[in-house]
Amino acid sequence: MINKVIGMKKFPEDFVWGVATSAYQIEGAWNEDGKGLSIWDEFCHRGGKIANGDTGDIACDHYHRYKEDVQIIQKLNCKAYRFSISWPRVLPEGRGRVNEKGLDFYKRLIDELYAHGIIPFVTLYHWDLPLALEKQGGWTKRFISDAFAEYAEIIVKSLKDRVKHWTTLNEPLVIYGAGYFSGVHAPGYKSLYKSIKVIHNLLLSHAKAYHAIKSISPSAQVGIVNALSPVVPETEKDKKAAMLAESYTQRIFLDPFFKGAYPSLIDKKLQFLNRDIRDDDFTLMKNTCDFLGVNNYTRMVVKKTFLPVPGFAIIKSKSYPLTAMGWEIYPEGIYRLCTWIKNEYGNPPVYITENGAAFDDVINDQGEIVDTQRIEFLKSYLSDVHAAIQDGCNIKGYFVWSLMDNFEWAEGYTKRFGIIYVDYATQKRMIKHSGTWYASVCAQNGFE
Ligand code: GCO
Repeated sequence: MINKVIGMKKFPEDFVWGVATSAYQIEGAWNEDGKGLSIWDEFCHRGGKIANGDTGDIACDHYHRYKEDVQIIQKLNCKAYRFSISWPRVLPEGRGRVNEKGLDFYKRLIDELYAHGIIPFVTLYHWDLPLALEKQGGWTKRFISDAFAEYAEIIVKSLKDRVKHWTTLNEPLVIYGAGYFSGVHAPGYKSLYKSIKVIHNLLLSHAKAYHAIKSISPSAQVGIVNALSPVVPETEKDKKAAMLAESYTQRIFLDPFFKGAYPSLIDKKLQFLNRDIRDDDFTLMKNTCDFLGVNNYTRMVVKKTFLPVPGFAIIKSKSYPLTAMGWEIYPEGIYRLCTWIKNEYGNPPVYITENGAAFDDVINDQGEIVDTQRIEFLKSYLSDVHAAIQDGCNIKGYFVWSLMDNFEWAEGYTKRFGIIYVDYATQKRMIKHSGTWYASVCAQNGFE
């Protein structure tokens, strides 16, 4: 017994253990109860964009099965659940008319969570922009920041009594990088020019929503969720490229909020390429993160390119074992990241809002999913989170991506990230071994 206690990695008393999902990836009900279309509805239906022609039309049917899903979260002993609200479910045209039935769904979900002792962490935007707004230029146009703040205001006015933790945007890096630069995500553009406009409008949208939320609910904790990875040059010759990559992918969604400016290395370039920027935008952006959401899966290896902007390319490195996504398993990355945030940005409160892995799960003869690799993955990353806390990082909580297998964007249903298995044909849910393991971590506030 004593040995066991000594071998335990214990987390701080008030540490928040949770699981995460997002609306488009799990809800389904794409055209029910007055929901408007999103850019992801359109992108999937366009054809040729998603593995196997998959769509989120039904996904995990969570819209109808949320009660069962909340019971599962309780079984996992989680204190918190991170989910997102579908903007077009609540505002079918993106602005103006509210679809009460859509809003009701989230009220019922939150009631259900509280009834099971689980607190909600709500993300306002996890990539499903109302199609009506995309038709007006979407994230490339400045008006979008006002539309986003209005949307935030409507949601927070109606849910503020029961939601204390809000995040505005999920992974602005991926919104612009995959949606506007590489084009593999909705809305599917390949344009550097558009990307640079989108970056600024995302920053502005977060800032305006932050101020809107705080004026309605001063005690709310409001943050942003960033996709962060330590950036590593492929060779000595790629060092400059790595610095550029760090600025364009990491600092760009941190410096404006914590320092009130674009990262110095790329400031001039961005200002030159985007004539819509106003000086007071940065005043609006500064000090608008009560906490920071960190999504980390792997590291980012880069090499230089001949094009001066952005001046780097991300390569598929295979120096460490890989997950089914082909991502390197690199647990010390999460330690490096957290200490970097502490030193560079004044040790803000941090929630690890996503961490997890896709593996090719198989159901064995006993009908079980013995996903030992996923357990090892989670254990190794959590050990580094624990070490970062020991070294003074202000980490307040951790959310596994994901509660259950779901629609993995361009990969459709081919990649399984869940600690719960979903049989899409029957919608039956089944706890994987990793789920059972994580439930014990949440219950014991740590692990051996
Ligand atoms: C993210 C994505 C998730 C993905 C997960 C795995 O925030 O990165 O939003 O939706 O499913 O990251 O790729």
